Amino acid sequence: MLNIIIFGAPGSGKGTQSDRIVEKFGVNHISTGDVLRAEIKKETELGKTAQEYTSQGQLIPDALMVSILAKVFDGFKDSKGVIFDGFPRTIAQAEALKNMLAERGQMVSVMFDLEVPEDELMIRLIKRGKESGRADDNEETIKKRLNVYHSQTTPLIDWYKKKGIYQHINGKGTIDEITSEIGEIIKNIL
Ligand code: AP5
Ligand code: MG
Repeated sequence: MLNIIIFGAPGSGKGTQSDRIVEKFGVNHISTGDVLRAEIKKETELGKTAQEYTSQGQLIPDALMVSILAKVFDGFKDSKGVIFDGFPRTIAQAEALKNMLAERGQMVSVMFDLEVPEDELMIRLIKRGKESGRADDNEETIKKRLNVYHSQTTPLIDWYKKKGIYQHINGKGTIDEITSEIGEIIKNIL
C-alpha cells in the first residue's frame, strides 16, 4: 500500500495537490483539517473542542488527533493507498503514525514537503478567506498558524530526512507543474 504524507505550511497546497493525487492514483485522502471542520459544522462534542483550538490557530491535542486518524484510516476498505494531508504535525504524531502503520504491517512510503515563501502563503490564504470564508483564514489567525507550523511542525522535516523518505517540492510553481513533479516521484515508487 502506498502511504503518502503531504506536508507544508498553511496554504502551501496540501489539499489542492491531494485532490489531484486522489484522481490520478485512486488513493484515499485523509485531511485532518477537513475532518475537524466537518465535526465543527455538525456541532458535535468533538467539533466544539476542535473549534476552540482551530479558531486560535492552535493544534488539537495529539492523543485526540491520533485516535481520530486511526478511526478514519481503518474505515478505508481495500484501499490502494492513503494520502495523509495535514497529519502528522508534531513529532509525537509522526511516532504514532509510524506505530499505527507498523501494527497494520505498513509504513510511510514518501513524504512530500511543499515549500512556499511566507509572503505567498499569506496572499493565498487571505484571498481564500475572502472567497470561501474559512474561519481561520484571517490575518491574525494565519500568523498564529504559521508560528505553530514553525515551532511545532518543521522539526518533522529532519525527522523524515533521517528516515530517508523526504522529498522536497517547490510549491511555488503552477498547480499543474507541482502535480506532475509529485506524480513522477509516485510513479517511480510504484
Ligand atoms: P488544515 O486544514 O490542515 O490547514 P492548514 O495546514 O493551515 O493548511 P490549509 O488547508 O490552509 O492549506 P493547504 O496546504 O491545504 O493549501 P490549499 O491546497 O488549501 O488545519 C486547520 C487546523 O486544524 C489547524 O490549524 C489545527 O488547528 C487543526 N489541525 C489539523 N490537522 C491537525 C493535526 N494533525 N494536529 C492537530 N491539529 C490539527 O491551498 C491554499 C490556497 O492556495 C487555495 O485557495 C488554493 O486554491 C491556492 N493554491 C494552491 N496551490 C496553489 C499554487 N500552486 N499556486 C497558487 N495558488 C495555489
Ligand atoms: Mg488543507
